[in-house]
Amino acid sequence: MEEIKVFCPATIANVSCGFDVLGLALDSVGDEMIVRKTAEKGIRIVKILGQDLPLETEKNVSGVAGLALLKESDYDGGFEIEIDKRIKPGSGIGSSAASSAGAVWAMNELLGRPFSPLQLVKFAMQGEKLASDVAHADNVAPAIYGGFTLVRSYDPLDIIPIPTPSELVATVIHPQIEVKTSDSRKILKTTISLEKGIKQWGNVGGLIAGLFQKDYDLIGRSLQDHIVEPIRSILIPGFDEIKANALASGALGCGISGSGPSIFALSKGLETAKSVAESMKETYSKFGIPFDIHISKINTQGVKKIA
Ligand code: HSE
Repeated sequence: MEEIKVFCPATIANVSCGFDVLGLALDSVGDEMIVRKTAEKGIRIVKILGQDLPLETEKNVSGVAGLALLKESDYDGGFEIEIDKRIKPGSGIGSSAASSAGAVWAMNELLGRPFSPLQLVKFAMQGEKLASDVAHADNVAPAIYGGFTLVRSYDPLDIIPIPTPSELVATVIHPQIEVKTSDSRKILKTTISLEKGIKQWGNVGGLIAGLFQKDYDLIGRSLQDHIVEPIRSILIPGFDEIKANALASGALGCGISGSGPSIFALSKGLETAKSVAESMKETYSKFGIPFDIHISKINTQGVKKIA
């Protein structure tokens, strides 16, 4: 195989209680990317559609992630990348992760899969470092593994894929304002109280147990964030109203997607997810900020070949 076209899913990081450790992949939102082998060494980004992003390899997250892979590979050629960027940078649904994960996953396929998913996550994390100054894995891990993932440890990196109950559906509203991950990390406190820690790790455990047991009520009870959401929600106009109305419409839980400004809700079943979308639409129409709404099943496959 000399060329591959892939779908690179959007992702929801943190999933309320799991700052920097939990994430999930979406099905209906993502970028597309063509990667082809070249005799010339190195990586060239030859085309980016949809967004104004740098073509220089070292300034582009897919270039940097790809270079990390090439450094560990004995392949003596290079790659060319074309990106159809459908996820807006700064939207909170893993735009940089989709490009980083998509690039290294595609390259691994073209090389005959010399690298494990865990190694691909490590390469893709270099793209995240370029985008947000921190090599967090909670977007790139679900983009590569699919479904829900837990980063049990960063050092050594330990990624645990978590099963996805089949009726879980995400609704995501993306207000058209940009929140840079690097900025929304700077406003966080670096210490937490024991009291908040107890609440938070109770919910992380509860969410993981709920996902394993397909216990939707337990999933809902656990989708709470006592640490990050109270601080970051200030950056998102209408967050409290969106959340209250989504829960009143039947969502199991609702929170900030990644570093925002997107807000996600998880529901049991498509019908509830649609009612939540309606409530988000009605609520946000008052705010005078344009927005997109996506309804998506959880993508259990991660990056996938589409041609
Ligand atoms: N865990 C990261 C953060 C995700 O919340 O800053 C960024 O998408």
